[in-house]
Amino acid sequence: MSDRATSETVLVAASIAEPSRRSFLGHAALASLALPGCLPPSQAPPSDDDDSAPTDDDDDSSSVDDDDDSADPAACEPTEDNIEGPFFREEAPVREDLNVFDDAGEPLQIEGRVLDPDCQPLVGAEVEVWHCAPTGDYDNESDAFEWRGRAFTDDQGRYRFQTVVPGRYLNGDEYRPAHVHYKVHAEGHESLTTQLYFEGDPYNGVDGFIRDSLIRPVVDGVINFEVSLSPE
Ligand SMILES: [Fe+2]
Repeated sequence: MSDRATSETVLVAASIAEPSRRSFLGHAALASLALPGCLPPSQAPPSDDDDSAPTDDDDDSSSVDDDDDSADPAACEPTEDNIEGPFFREEAPVREDLNVFDDAGEPLQIEGRVLDPDCQPLVGAEVEVWHCAPTGDYDNESDAFEWRGRAFTDDQGRYRFQTVVPGRYLNGDEYRPAHVHYKVHAEGHESLTTQLYFEGDPYNGVDGFIRDSLIRPVVDGVINFEVSLSPE
């Protein structure tokens, strides 16, 4: 009745996607790959090692309005890109709520702004995100496009999504840390494909793709990710 993919369907889809994933990983010079597994955040090992978390002390780097003329000139440096991965789908719905079936999970608001290198907001920029379910599975087939959506920035360059904290999936012998994929487009600027990572994730230290500049903390259920685009 529902067009919602069952977990089995999603797992099959993930398996079907394996060749492309393997070739993708080949490009990334990774070795062998196991079938996608899952590990809900609640089953992850404790993250009591500070080394696994980024040591960025520059939470202010994403904040552009706290210093007037003495603003950090690096605050709006173009956001670092990151791999697209094999699970992007075209034509995701325009919506802010990604938890279309009210699945259980740790509620999360993803928000931020899209800026130019001068820290000016980019109005009407398209922000597209996708991530796996808390179980670690991507919806690669269903018409519901679970955990996927697009939004357009408002007159202050802001965007927002409501979702739950993503799970993790196996990449070879290691779980990838929780992450959210992004594609951002704005007129007159270079499009960006990147990923947002979570401060303190116990797998941050073992992932081959993660970049420190892309890690943010979750504060009171909100993760803020300011994106800056290069001019064309
Ligand atoms: Fe991913």
